[in-house]
Amino acid sequence: MSRLIVVSNRVSPPTGAGEETVGGLAMALAAALRQYTGLWFGWSGKTVPAFTGALDTQTIDGVTAAVVDLEEADLDEYYNGYANKTLWPLFHYRTDLAAYDRAYGAGYERVNRRFAETLAPLIGPDDLIWVHDYHLIPLARELRKLGFRNRIGFFLHVPWPAHQVFTTLPNHGALVSAMFDYDLVGFQTLEYQLAFEEYVLSEARGVQLTANSLQAFGRTLKIGAFPIGLDAVDFARMVKSPRARRMCDQMTAATVFRSLIVGVDRLDYSKGLEERFEGFDRFLADNPDMRREVLMLQIAPVSRESVEAYREIRGRLDALSGRINAEYADVDWNPFRYVNKNYRRDELAGIYRAARVGVVTPLRDGMNLVAKEFVAAQDPADPGVLILSRFAGAARQMHQALLVNPNSPEEIADALKRALAMSKLERIRRWGQLFENVQLDDVTAWRDAFVGALACANVSRAALAS
Ligand code: G6P
Repeated sequence: MSRLIVVSNRVSPPTGAGEETVGGLAMALAAALRQYTGLWFGWSGKTVPAFTGALDTQTIDGVTAAVVDLEEADLDEYYNGYANKTLWPLFHYRTDLAAYDRAYGAGYERVNRRFAETLAPLIGPDDLIWVHDYHLIPLARELRKLGFRNRIGFFLHVPWPAHQVFTTLPNHGALVSAMFDYDLVGFQTLEYQLAFEEYVLSEARGVQLTANSLQAFGRTLKIGAFPIGLDAVDFARMVKSPRARRMCDQMTAATVFRSLIVGVDRLDYSKGLEERFEGFDRFLADNPDMRREVLMLQIAPVSRESVEAYREIRGRLDALSGRINAEYADVDWNPFRYVNKNYRRDELAGIYRAARVGVVTPLRDGMNLVAKEFVAAQDPADPGVLILSRFAGAARQMHQALLVNPNSPEEIADALKRALAMSKLERIRRWGQLFENVQLDDVTAWRDAFVGALACANVSRAALAS
């Protein structure tokens, strides 16, 4: 029987009991692998003075993970460099933050080659290989160079940007050409798939063979939209856990006579946190009578701190949150709680349940699973309201949320007012439809759709040999 080999930069096998923290990709992959015989391969998160390629393998909760250490230069040029200073800002439309440095590009190629060489001895002839995210776009090309003809799929968790944005990347053609070494490439939404198609047709002089296949660079590629979902069953269990209940009670007690507004995001400039803070500021300014009736809690664990842009946004958010409290707090009360700590997912589930409003307003986001978790955690008899950015992939599915332009603090302020005033009947109606979708399009549906499409991607590898 063929196995499923999942490859991603970050590998975080489940620890067993809801201890995992924010990070949709790792959670989804752990869930996706649980029912497959297979392997999860990637970086250990550690560095050593010189790359050895030694594998550390362990099996936890039915998932076998094999990880490899990288060297310092890899961390600088591949992870902090090309992945997080070049591709991440570019794919999130922040060309102003994107750094172009040939050393980063070389480091990116080198690590992808090292990953391919390290993984090679573990690959069986019938294994399906599923590669994840922008760190590893050239991995299939490196595996093909080593002679592998397995079916290899790629899933991009972040947005694929519009043509004009993507072409600001020097050597963009080489990156897209490497994608044609996969058999199947999946995107979070149809919008990203169409942006990729447009690039291939107009820039690479490709040909559209069918609605889901393209020909370019002398090869054929299947593409599709596969929106990622929650591990809904596991999350429902988590919401009922003692830890979640305790957290929910704690937050309810801390907000007696007040409504809790909650946001949970990695501290990243793509998440629209400044605009969100300003939106809350404006809400307080515009609605003096409601000031004492709300508490906004923003949880934002720090992330990628070696990259300057992340340190800068952290400083700006510290100042902004301090200013909001200084402006509106009273001796016995303050309106805003801003926390950089990481919380367990079961604790977050409890916080979501205690909240009247969830605010998920990224400026750009591939999908955003916090939006889905917020919905899944609600009390059906008295659910909270989701405010969602129209630029999150999740907005393509979650039409019953209050959709906002995350660039506009005014729109965010208006949506907060509307959410807090919404009747129970309307909250129940909106939530019911959102919840149905979250349950239906869950992580299992996502995995089965992608793996099913990969298993029958019938691209001839003969052309590759030549
Ligand atoms: C996003 C990316 C993932 C990444 C995660 C956490 O969700 O799409 O690939 O793993 O952020 O970021 P980190 O740099 O800590 O892995």
